[in-house]
Amino acid sequence: KRGAVVTAPALAGFFHGVQTIRQLLPAVVEAPAPVPSSGWRPMVWEIPGVRIADAPRFGWRGFMIDSCRHFLPVEVVKRVVDALALYKFNRLHWHLTEDQGWRLEIKKYPRLASVAAWRGPTKYGGFYTRDEVRDVVAYATARGVEVVPEIELPGHAQAALAAYPALGCTGGPYKVGTEWGIYKDVYCAGNEKVFDFLEGVLTEVCALFPGRFIHLGADECPKDRWKACPKCQARIRKEGLADEHALQSWFVHRAISFLEGKGKRCICWDEILEGGPPPGVIVQAWRAGEKAVSKAVAAGHEVIHSPYSHVYLNESPRGCTLEHVHTWDPTQEGERDALTPAALTRPELLLGGEACLWGEWCPPTRVGWQAFPRLLAVAETLWSPWRGRDFQDFHGRAMAQKGRLSYLGLTPGPERFV
Ligand code: ACM
Ligand code: ZN
Repeated sequence: KRGAVVTAPALAGFFHGVQTIRQLLPAVVEAPAPVPSSGWRPMVWEIPGVRIADAPRFGWRGFMIDSCRHFLPVEVVKRVVDALALYKFNRLHWHLTEDQGWRLEIKKYPRLASVAAWRGPTKYGGFYTRDEVRDVVAYATARGVEVVPEIELPGHAQAALAAYPALGCTGGPYKVGTEWGIYKDVYCAGNEKVFDFLEGVLTEVCALFPGRFIHLGADECPKDRWKACPKCQARIRKEGLADEHALQSWFVHRAISFLEGKGKRCICWDEILEGGPPPGVIVQAWRAGEKAVSKAVAAGHEVIHSPYSHVYLNESPRGCTLEHVHTWDPTQEGERDALTPAALTRPELLLGGEACLWGEWCPPTRVGWQAFPRLLAVAETLWSPWRGRDFQDFHGRAMAQKGRLSYLGLTPGPERFV
C-alpha cells in the first residue's frame, strides 16, 4: 500500500521492472498529452497489489526494421523503440543498406547520401544524418535497447554501386533499384578498392554505433557476376577457394576480421553457412527449411532464430495470424527449424529470436498495423517460459494492449483476416 519496490541484480532488470509497473498502470499513462477524466469521477491511477518474480527466457529479444525499401523517419523509429522497451525487447536490428536505397550518411563517401539514398524519377528516398543516428542510438540506449546496424555485403549492394560503380564487377553504370527482388550486381570480390570502401564505411559505422554487434547481411548474393568476372576468378585461384560460395565466405570473413579487430561481434543471415561459415560469426536463421539452426549449432555457432514461416511480420495477417505467431518457439521442433534435441545439448548457443518487418509493402504509416498485435506474441515467446502457454489467456492480455499502442502512435492491425 505504501508503494512499489523493484529489486534486480543489474541495471537492465531495474529497467524491465519499471516497464512492468508501466504495464500495470492504465493505458492512458501512455497518452502523449493529459487526457481529461470523463464525467464526475476523478481519474485514479492504481496498480494492483502484486508480487512478480520474473526473468527473461532469452537474452536476445530482437525486432528488425527495414528503412531501405521505405524510408522510416526518425520519429517512427523512436516510436518503435518505445514499444520495444515497453514489451522488454532489447535489440533493434536496423536494416540500413539495400539495392533500393542506402540510408546512412558516411562522411568519407558522400555519394552514398547524395546518390545512393534516392531512387527513380521522383527521387524517392532519404538518409539518416550522423547526428540523427547518434540521437536514435542514445534514445534506444536510454530505454534498454541496443541498436544493431545492418550493412549488407556482398549482395544487396546496388544502391552503393550506383554511387561508386567501380566497386562492381562490370563497372556499371548502375542505378538505385526501383523494383523489389534480388539484384545480380554485387560488390566485386576481386577488387581491393571494395575492401578499402567497406573498411572506410565500417570504421564510421563503429563510431556511430557503440554497441557490441554489427550485422553484415550476407544473404541472397547471386554469384552470376563473380562467375563471369576475371578479377573474382583470380581471387578464387589465389586464395585456393572451392567455388563462388567459398568466395562469399572469404569475402565476409575478411570484413568480420576487420570488425573483430575493432572489438565487434558480427551477425550474418544463414546463407553464410553455404560456403563454410567464418569462425565466431553469429548466424541469424531465417530459412526454416534449410535446418540452419541445427547446422549452425552443430558447427558451434551462436544462433538467432527468425524463421520467416513464423516471425516475418511483413507477411499478411491473413496467413500469418496472431495465433500462428504465438505457436512459434525456438525450441519446439517442426517447420520452424527449431533447435533439435541433439543440438539442445548446447542450449547456450541459442541466443534468442528476432521478428523481422521487411519494408517492401510497409510505408512508415503502416508500421504499427503490420507489427502489432503480432509482435506481442513474439515478446511472449522470447520472455516467458514455453510451459503453460495458453493462447486464450495471451489473447486477452494482447487485446488489452490496443489502447496503449494507439497512444504510442502504433495502432495495431487485425490479428487475422476472416
Ligand atoms: C532475408 O529475408 N533475406 C534475410
Ligand atoms: Zn568481380
